[in-house]
Amino acid sequence: MGFEAEDHYARLAATYNGNWSHSPDYVAWMSGQVCDRLQIRPGDRVVDVGAGTGLFLSMLGGAVTADNPVVCVDPSRPMLDQLPDDPRLAPLQATAEQVASREVRLPYEQIDAVLIKEAIHHVADVPATVRGLADLLAPGGRFLVVTLPPLLEYPLFEAALERFAKRQPEPEGIAEDMADAGLRTDLSYAEFPVRVEREHYLGLVGRQWMSVLSTFSESEIADGLEEIRRRHPEDVLEFTDRFALVFGTKPGG
Ligand SMILES: C[S@@+](CC[C@H](N)C(=O)[O-])C[C@H]1O[C@@H](n2cnc3c(N)ncnc32)[C@H](O)[C@@H]1O
Repeated sequence: MGFEAEDHYARLAATYNGNWSHSPDYVAWMSGQVCDRLQIRPGDRVVDVGAGTGLFLSMLGGAVTADNPVVCVDPSRPMLDQLPDDPRLAPLQATAEQVASREVRLPYEQIDAVLIKEAIHHVADVPATVRGLADLLAPGGRFLVVTLPPLLEYPLFEAALERFAKRQPEPEGIAEDMADAGLRTDLSYAEFPVRVEREHYLGLVGRQWMSVLSTFSESEIADGLEEIRRRHPEDVLEFTDRFALVFGTKPGG
């Protein structure tokens, strides 16, 4: 199955979780943001679209059992292969578009909660995909898209920040797509203060850990690393990680 950034995730899969191992606080914080909004209840049918390695699924706690596993949708087999071996997680190799269009069927006729975390930027037709997934929601169902806004405050090199901004969908547009699909919609932002050793961060950039970085050549990355070193002589980098949380609920229920 070919999809945008396929090679990027195949290369990254084995080290993906390690990128965050320095920051268990961040993983717990993000899991809390998701949990607070999706309000998963026992028996809920949950789908995580672009689930990747399932790093943020620890938040589901006792609400999910092997009888109602979270369907972890992702087109990348190497990423899905990193999912913990847990009967409460059901991997499904597919794109968001394929699930939204019913080309690939979920094990549930209707769902109570759908999460797309840091994967919507890989979706080609966002309005149609949001609508297709919203149509799968049962009355009272919740839909959460967690995404970086186009303008980042990361200490990256300028060309990477610019290219990222061009490729990233606007959160307001995603909120409109949800509203057009009949959901009550709320857009909010959440910020996490990051402190990271410069050398660790340069290592991440060198390994092209963000998919936008995989669009630069080796020599462009080398130049980019030089630019970051010049601009940030400090040993510890401090910046704000800011996320848009686009939340929709289906009336009824
Ligand atoms: C940045 S990772 C996010 C993974 C996980 N949600 C997380 O937050 O850790 C993006 C994921 O989106 C997946 N992806 C790429 N194209 C996709 C598509 N068209 N539909 C659904 N997922 C896609 C990638 O394979 C990758 O696992």
